[in-house]
Amino acid sequence: MELRIVDHPLVAHKLTTLRDQRTDSPTFRRLTEELVTLLAYEATREVRVSPQTVQTPVASCAGVKLSPPRPLVVPILRAGLGMLEGMTRLIPTAEVGFVGMVRNERTLEASTYAERLPDDLSGRQCYVLDPMLATGGTLAAAVKFLVDRGADHITCICLLAAPEGIDRLRHLLEDLAVPCTLVVAAVDERLNEVGYIVPGLGDAGDRLYG
Ligand code: PRP
Repeated sequence: MELRIVDHPLVAHKLTTLRDQRTDSPTFRRLTEELVTLLAYEATREVRVSPQTVQTPVASCAGVKLSPPRPLVVPILRAGLGMLEGMTRLIPTAEVGFVGMVRNERTLEASTYAERLPDDLSGRQCYVLDPMLATGGTLAAAVKFLVDRGADHITCICLLAAPEGIDRLRHLLEDLAVPCTLVVAAVDERLNEVGYIVPGLGDAGDRLYG
């Protein structure tokens, strides 16, 4: 798994406001969307394109267009939904699939309560959206879903990750013969005793929708 930390002053600026406990829900939602668009720019470097020649008003010009099949964007409900708009703004033609997962706050184990994905993902590039990578259980389970259905290229976009979650994700995915990239705005210090990222930004789902 490749880890890509997006080092950019605008990303750092928006993330700092997002972390601030005084930031209200409407601002938090808007900043999340803006941050995702910036991260998505980095996350889509390997999106597949094909050559395409167009006629400008002046001359013929060689360029590219996104190749079929369309990329699949998968927000992990609930908090990942806050990232969807920021992603589809960059790839409006993407298909969207949904996975609903919740982490048991006592055991920290993730379980799936909803799933609406295409049955066959053979040859598809998939972009998984979840603001927080804490223990890594949620994201690893979602990636496995996609690979089991045939996805052959996975990119996960998270706002924040804990080192423990990155290690666990790397370990859980090392048996999968599919390239996986993790794109984040920052890697924080650690997880605390109740599984929250420190310093983090609190509970992203609650701050978006609570
Ligand atoms: C949070 C977060 C991730 C998950 C991360 O979701 O949005 O999905 O926990 O934890 P993990 O890496 O330890 O698995 P939560 O379960 O709180 O659900 P929500 O999105 O509905 O708030």
